[in-house]
Amino acid sequence: MRVKIAVWLVITLVLFDLPVLARVSVSQRSQSIDRRVDALLSQMTLEEKVGQVHQLFYFTQFMKPEAIEPDIRAGKVGSLLFLTDPALINRFQKVAVENSRLKIPLLFGFDVIHGFHTIFPVPLAMASSWDPALVEQAQSVAAREARAVGIHWTFAPMVDIARDPRWGRIVEGAGEDPFLGARMAAAHVRGFQGTDPSSPDHVLACMKHFAGYGAGSGGRDYDSAYIADAELYNVYLPPFKAAVDAGVGSAMSAYMDLNDVPATGNSFLLRDVLRKQWGFKGFVVSDAEAVGNLVTHGFAEDRSDAAYRALTAGVDLEMSFPGNSIASAYSSSLTKLIAEGRVTKDLLDEAVRRILEAKFKLGLFENPYVDESRVASIHNNPEHRRLARVAAQRSMVLLRNEGNLLPLVKSDPKVSSVAVIGPLADSKRDIRGSWSFVDDVKSAVTVLEGIRAKLGSSVKVEYAPGVDIARVYPSPFGIIQGSRPAPWSETQKREEFEKAVSVARSSDVIILVLGEHEDMSGEAASQSSIELPGRQLELLKTISALGKPLVLVLINGRPLEISWAASNVSAILEAWHPGSEGGNAVADILYGDATPGGKLPVTWPRSAAQIPIYYAHNLTQEPETRKNFTSRYWDIPSSPLYPFGYGLSYTTFSFSNLRVSKPEIKVGESTEVLVDVENTGRRAGEEVAQLYIHQRFGSASRPVRELKGFERVALAPGQKKTIRFTLGKPELTYWSGAVKDWVQEPAAFDLWVGADATAVLATTLRVVKR
Ligand code: NOJ
Repeated sequence: MRVKIAVWLVITLVLFDLPVLARVSVSQRSQSIDRRVDALLSQMTLEEKVGQVHQLFYFTQFMKPEAIEPDIRAGKVGSLLFLTDPALINRFQKVAVENSRLKIPLLFGFDVIHGFHTIFPVPLAMASSWDPALVEQAQSVAAREARAVGIHWTFAPMVDIARDPRWGRIVEGAGEDPFLGARMAAAHVRGFQGTDPSSPDHVLACMKHFAGYGAGSGGRDYDSAYIADAELYNVYLPPFKAAVDAGVGSAMSAYMDLNDVPATGNSFLLRDVLRKQWGFKGFVVSDAEAVGNLVTHGFAEDRSDAAYRALTAGVDLEMSFPGNSIASAYSSSLTKLIAEGRVTKDLLDEAVRRILEAKFKLGLFENPYVDESRVASIHNNPEHRRLARVAAQRSMVLLRNEGNLLPLVKSDPKVSSVAVIGPLADSKRDIRGSWSFVDDVKSAVTVLEGIRAKLGSSVKVEYAPGVDIARVYPSPFGIIQGSRPAPWSETQKREEFEKAVSVARSSDVIILVLGEHEDMSGEAASQSSIELPGRQLELLKTISALGKPLVLVLINGRPLEISWAASNVSAILEAWHPGSEGGNAVADILYGDATPGGKLPVTWPRSAAQIPIYYAHNLTQEPETRKNFTSRYWDIPSSPLYPFGYGLSYTTFSFSNLRVSKPEIKVGESTEVLVDVENTGRRAGEEVAQLYIHQRFGSASRPVRELKGFERVALAPGQKKTIRFTLGKPELTYWSGAVKDWVQEPAAFDLWVGADATAVLATTLRVVKR
């Protein structure tokens, strides 16, 4: 009988009550968090509250623990960033939870951008995979590795739309497109946070930089952005909105002026859009020293005014730099501002509440410490490296493959020697990309090592760098990353160049690895030109003149000017900065153990002169499609070198039978768009089916094309699959500059599905009034 009752109870719980119980427990949990926050707030002194909104950098290289411990003990610091040593993290946490009056744990943050111990491809590369599930998996590994050392919070993902490849930080995002950007943003957030950020495997995510940072004038880092409302809502904000919808726990305010109001003092962004329009419940952190910089911008009168403006605008936590030498704007001013009545106690409480809530949600009050004994086993999990290799393979984009030079054959009787040439061919530092600070650099696999491992001893693999490259102005990150070797002397330059040419001449196949150092893109790494740095083009031309089979592999963080290569070199593989397993993944692709399937998340210009160039521009009164009108410049084509969404495979695909389930729908209704994709070649491969739309007329002009759906699909030779996309209100709504609101209008739409933004297979859809 007892057993029967137990079984009945279990069945009843599973079928009926568990979901209810789960809901109850989530809401109970947040109620209990509310109560706990209220209780804490009621006990906190003003100084302790100010401490909670103060985040401090801690650089192990320059700082001593003793210097900040008194402040932690006194409750003057709520969060630390840049610590990665679990012992030190525990040491500081102990001071906070055992020696401070209210025992509030510290929140530890770090830039976990594309990996921690295991480095994954840079975010622009991950976006090239067009595979959100892969991105989610990669970031969940990054989260696990970071949490293993005690990091609770990552300053990622960067979801800034970037339409100017001169901007160095284009490498940190998902490229130019709001739809792809939104899908990637949500995937990053899901990967970092999982379903429960308090689990020992996840971290809190932070979408950044809110908002418009990618639109800085001239691609110059930190420059002012002027973005009209229509462009802001339709292009720059959707990835942030997607991150909010995915439950992102925090947001970082950007550095630059948006329409003359610095983002860190911008209440339109931080209160109207983020909180009122989107209902964001997490907390907002400033970018490093961005509050103090409101003075530098010529916006705030002094640091106290800056603190007032940032807090009023909605910045809850100030990230202050450089730590203990300057007091943060908040910590030096808020007490006085409250005493003067300029800042209300409630305003400060609101910010403190949000930070405490995050600490409760992360489970820090229950589990403040990290278990140092778990670090090694988590970091050395071979599954992480395996995933990094797959992620790198899936992120690479094959740009050219004339005469099917690729894939190369591993045991080709005609090939007894392979030359691997170029300044990026054997650089462990650069294969990883920027924001790789604490991984084991030595364990990163370069292209040379990957090729050697692939070919074994039967083929002679010779290497020469050929040229050296360097930034004109050094990177500020050199302080952390270490400086680069001194530039070569003139003699060395001549000798190395000649050596590379001679190695190439005596080899049967040449793999030339060119591009950029990791610090040539990223923060403080904008460039006026996008040419290959240094004498790399000269090396390429000289080696190409040898007339041997030549493959160009690019390691870089932005589209580069490669027009010469695009018409003179048979095979070009864009590998980006592919991470710890990058060299192995390049070798896998070059030798056919993996088939390339990545697609460009950015339009690739012929030269910097075409910038800004992106596919989703509006039509003009004289579009290129009009008879007798060929180009909008008379000296170069209007078209880019490679369109958005472009990328080749080792097999071929065809799209056919494009149809719309309901060719006419009412405003608010949905329809399905179906297309057949077939692998028409002889190898298995993956194609990304991409759906583009154009609204022909309406209250405002709409872009010539906009991505509204995509799916990466694996197909065996001869296999055909039907792909379905849904088009409905979310896809057909836009922010109209004329109406000054979101609209979905009765109109005619062109639809295209294909392999990139120039897809030709087309149909139409009519949307009529309800
Ligand atoms: C400045 C960068 O703009 C931001 O992206 C980063 O998260 C912070 N520094 C912290 O490192």
